[in-house]
Amino acid sequence: MQAFIEQMPKAELHVHLEGTLEPELSFALAKKNNVPLDYQTPEELIAAYNFYDLPSFLTIYYAAMKVLCEEEDFYQLTWDYLSKARSQETLYCELFFDPQAHTSRGIAFDTVIRGIHRAQIDAEEKLGIKSQLIMCFLRDMSAESAMEHLLMAEPYRHWLIGVGLDSDEKHNPPVKFAEVFRKARDMGLKLTMHCDVNQLNTLVHISQCLDDIQVDRIDHGINSLESDTLCEAIKARGLGLTICPVSNRFVVQSLTSNEIRQMLEKGMLATINSDDPAYFRAYLNENLIELQREGNFNTEEITTLVGNAFRVSWLPEPEKQVYL
Ligand code: HPA
Ligand code: ZN
Repeated sequence: MQAFIEQMPKAELHVHLEGTLEPELSFALAKKNNVPLDYQTPEELIAAYNFYDLPSFLTIYYAAMKVLCEEEDFYQLTWDYLSKARSQETLYCELFFDPQAHTSRGIAFDTVIRGIHRAQIDAEEKLGIKSQLIMCFLRDMSAESAMEHLLMAEPYRHWLIGVGLDSDEKHNPPVKFAEVFRKARDMGLKLTMHCDVNQLNTLVHISQCLDDIQVDRIDHGINSLESDTLCEAIKARGLGLTICPVSNRFVVQSLTSNEIRQMLEKGMLATINSDDPAYFRAYLNENLIELQREGNFNTEEITTLVGNAFRVSWLPEPEKQVYL
């Protein structure tokens, strides 16, 4: 089964580029950019990855970004991730990035997006892995800041496929960003939002995603299973759910294999993803392999989960068909 998963052509739809920052690259960039780190070795840093909820993860995730300073650093981060993904037979990725986590440290928006974009072009040409970029807004920052960043992105509109919403969900509901997402849709961008597992008011948040924002996809969305109405609406609209098993394990001590099986049984379009693979120490293959073991999924179920990622991807229809 492991070999079957490893050799399958795969797509990844939920991965934060900043969450692919491996400790080794972090130390190399810290040295190059003269940035002091709180740890002496990569091993010591990894030992500090004892997350138990979303905020405990986000604290370490944002602190580590201070080593990303120059365009070349964003290039390296993106190139390294795409190389790793390609080595796992992942042929297509939709990549999240968090510009506000960089502009708030004085790094120019252009520096971030140019470095990422250049690596995407090179990786497609030299490695044969295609990717598209999704700009995320930090939901614990203001809607005004999100709008400013959407305007900053306008000259780069054609380097983006969509916008997303991530970071701390508590007291930061989807409707806080209704106007920003309306404008993004008017710009021709696809819309997705995180509804992380077991968050406060999670069913309200999922319902706002569907009715107020009219998202094209939901990131995580595990808790939708608690409501038949939500499940029906998600299914009727053909919305994909980007589930991240190893990421979930830090919060609910399970790879959510039961929930994923329920989604398959209901005909919901669940996909498997890595979220922040450098922090959760699991890329796409490891997520699929561990999930398969926990839930004892058969080859048909794994094929459906992997196929769903291509089905609900934001590739043009004819390109999807190549993989299905
Ligand atoms: N949830 C919310 N925000 C995030 C995550 C996540 O899993 N990863 C990076 N930003
Ligand atoms: Zn995420």
